[in-house]
Amino acid sequence: MDDIEEFIFANYLVDDTKKRDLEDLFYAYQSPALRNTFVDDPGVAALYMLTKGRSIMGVMEKIIRQNLDVFNDVESVVDFGGGPGTFLFALSKFKTLSKYTNVEQSDAFIGVMNVLVEEFLSSSIPHVHVDSISGNYLELESQKIPANDLCVFSYTFCEGDNSLAGLSGLVENSKMFLIIEPGTPSGFNNIIQARDKLIEEGFSAIAPCTASNGFCPLRDSNSDWCHFIERLDRSRVQKHLIKGELGYEDEKYSYLLMSKYPIHSPARLRRSGGDGKRIISRPDITKYSVSFDVCSEKDGHIVVKKRENKGKFKIMKKSIRGDLYSS
Ligand SMILES: C[S@@+](CC[C@H](N)C(=O)[O-])C[C@H]1O[C@@H](n2cnc3c(N)ncnc32)[C@H](O)[C@@H]1O
Repeated sequence: MDDIEEFIFANYLVDDTKKRDLEDLFYAYQSPALRNTFVDDPGVAALYMLTKGRSIMGVMEKIIRQNLDVFNDVESVVDFGGGPGTFLFALSKFKTLSKYTNVEQSDAFIGVMNVLVEEFLSSSIPHVHVDSISGNYLELESQKIPANDLCVFSYTFCEGDNSLAGLSGLVENSKMFLIIEPGTPSGFNNIIQARDKLIEEGFSAIAPCTASNGFCPLRDSNSDWCHFIERLDRSRVQKHLIKGELGYEDEKYSYLLMSKYPIHSPARLRRSGGDGKRIISRPDITKYSVSFDVCSEKDGHIVVKKRENKGKFKIMKKSIRGDLYSS
């Protein structure tokens, strides 16, 4: 990422106008239903990659690392609203793809992606075939979408005028589906709606859900929603561009990975055998116990008492939302 940072600075002439445009974009992202989030300037698209894109890439890497057994089998990806190819760059740190297609309405983002791919991926990963479909994916006919192992929607449904109505058509040619949204109630609501639709299409959840039978303990909660937090280092440039004082940021995100076909990896089989429930609340830690909620159909609240199991208490004290708990 350091190299990309230097490259973008040298080639997209970062001046104060671009920085202001980026600030406007971040302001628009706060209320996308009311403001224009469309990026038509290559400079802003490139700066996105160093700021928001960098944080999202950190989240993607976390999700990929936690589900590496699944992502290892992915050869072809269609990235709906892929921006500057954030997912391509994240996945390329773990494995080489055969084909990546970005279905993107902004030619500025597609242009930046092509430049970054040429500069940073083509020599190190010569076999990946990267292409793009320019346009609104909501208007795309399903036969124009290449068959793929995985389709991705990352921080796109949160953009103003997107609707989930056509989702079933968009995933027709996909074996797996990944959606990532901001970790807000509205982001989670998009995930739940997508989940309901895809269950109807025969998909089942792989992660983060560990409850069986499509049950979701948080879908009707008034006080919480399924989200996780990834603490990410901020680069010097990032701090400068977003006027951030802290050396890190906590990116809140919600996500869902689904598959049309059963996943047979040994790690999955162990998990579906009951080994590991996702922690879905912030663990409450006292001197005597750690308690938290898990994604489970029954026994959803766990209390680990020090006097009953010192070893487990010590481990669980360090746990965070999103970790797996094994009983
Ligand atoms: C916040 S950016 C996310 C980019 C990338 N997926 C990421 O995670 O960094 C949202 C992207 O979705 C694209 N987008 C939103 N709605 C779209 C639509 N209906 N058709 C095509 N692209 C869309 C935008 O142009 C933008 O590039």
